[in-house]
Amino acid sequence: MPESNFDVSVNLTVEPTDQATSVDVLIVGLRHQDSLSPSLGELDQLGGGWLTRLLESGQLRGKRGELTMLGVPTDSGPQMLLVVGLGESELSRLDAFELSAAAIRSLLDRPRGRVEVRFADTFASEHHDVVVAGALTACEGQALYRSEPSLKLPAEIAFPGVSQKQLDRGRVIGESINHARRMVNEPPAVLYPASFAQSVLDLFADTETSVEVWDENRLAEEGCRAILAVGAGSSRPPRLVMMSHLCGGDEPPIVLVGKGVTFDSGGLSLKPSDAMIDMKCDMAGAATVVGVMNAISCLGLKRNVIGLCGLAENMVSGTSYKLGDVIKTRSGKTIEILNTDAEGRVVLADTLDVAKGLQPQAIVDLATLTGACMVALGRDVVGAMTNDSNLLEQIESAATCEGELLWELPMFRHYDDQVKSKVADIKNIGDGRWGGAITAAKFLENFVDELPWVHLDIAGPAFADQPKPYRDAGATGVMVRTLLRWIES
Ligand code: BES
Ligand code: MN
Ligand code: ZN
Repeated sequence: MPESNFDVSVNLTVEPTDQATSVDVLIVGLRHQDSLSPSLGELDQLGGGWLTRLLESGQLRGKRGELTMLGVPTDSGPQMLLVVGLGESELSRLDAFELSAAAIRSLLDRPRGRVEVRFADTFASEHHDVVVAGALTACEGQALYRSEPSLKLPAEIAFPGVSQKQLDRGRVIGESINHARRMVNEPPAVLYPASFAQSVLDLFADTETSVEVWDENRLAEEGCRAILAVGAGSSRPPRLVMMSHLCGGDEPPIVLVGKGVTFDSGGLSLKPSDAMIDMKCDMAGAATVVGVMNAISCLGLKRNVIGLCGLAENMVSGTSYKLGDVIKTRSGKTIEILNTDAEGRVVLADTLDVAKGLQPQAIVDLATLTGACMVALGRDVVGAMTNDSNLLEQIESAATCEGELLWELPMFRHYDDQVKSKVADIKNIGDGRWGGAITAAKFLENFVDELPWVHLDIAGPAFADQPKPYRDAGATGVMVRTLLRWIES
């Protein structure tokens, strides 16, 4: 097994640069059709009005997202100047995150020493945390196994004018997103149920967050026959991971549930090769739960939050679960299997039942559950389904604030009949492929009963096939920021 050579050890500071330290690249923002900011004005004067001339000739513009790298024609000061176009509309939290990330990402083509991000006056101080988080997420890519690292990380990134508190918070957010992305980007031979579970034990060792892992024997004792069925075809047995952060007194816990199918071949309902290529990403829901729990734990939130990951590998062999099988789930409800590729909901059936047993105030599940959700909403938007519109409103407003795209799909009772089975309580597919994201959610609803619950289908946005200026292709860490904000508020 090759070892990944991932190492996001960037030194982050808030210290302003003194006379003796040299800055390789100074990053400064420029509003559209605006005059030079004080920091640019100073450099302009030192260089005999060079920036004013560039502005006047239209070489330098403030178009949102446009990056202009300039050599600085003076003896002192930074070597290079990176001007980041800020556009003309009001700057949001998402702008702070993405523009900071895009600026840093554009510098990773070669080694650099000190990079100074002068954004403290550009973005509101409440958004300084995501300026830092964005810079960190830019430094994490999917090329974990290139002999030569494809992203050359700067020795130091300085954020003068950002408070130490916002720097630390931003680091936690950035690292939590990166941790989730890293888990998803790891190949399935490296990350399988047992190694996923072990990595969670390692991550939370020496923290207030306690971790419990159920192996296949414990899963059998607990009656988690649905999780075991999905994992039955694999030589890598399933696991359930429970992370408990109980720092909120006696409030009932929030429970986060993640689909953790570490590889989805489709099982006997085998996927064609093209559809299987990215199926290492099928544990993104579970990885997101780990990322959010890491942030909660590092920030020491005074809340009760429990994260549950249902982990299995969906494979083909003589011991695979079969079409026509009927499984008695942990809840006692029976499921008829009519497609082994609709495995995520089967894993979640037992995982949601474990969540229910924790007497939560709310359950939020995250799952790369259906291709149908991508057909409905495209690649970049999370599909949200709920039995409690108040709870979803809270999560929607957190998502809006963070700039993560989420859209509700209806849960009309009209759909209920589609998951009824002729031989068991429910079947694991709807009638045909229409409304597939919703019929999957209808299946899940059977396992939460009346508890307030939101289901987030992240099949589209969890994994990107193209890079963006602010992020490499591959895992995205979608919903870490939104869920953290929701839990904090
Ligand atoms: N993991 C897939 C869904 C998926 C597709 C995630 C593309 C990310 C990208 C899921 O297990 C699946 O195979 N769903 C089936 C359900 C169908 C058999 C009812 C699907 O969407 O085709
Ligand atoms: Mn599947
Ligand atoms: Zn799947």
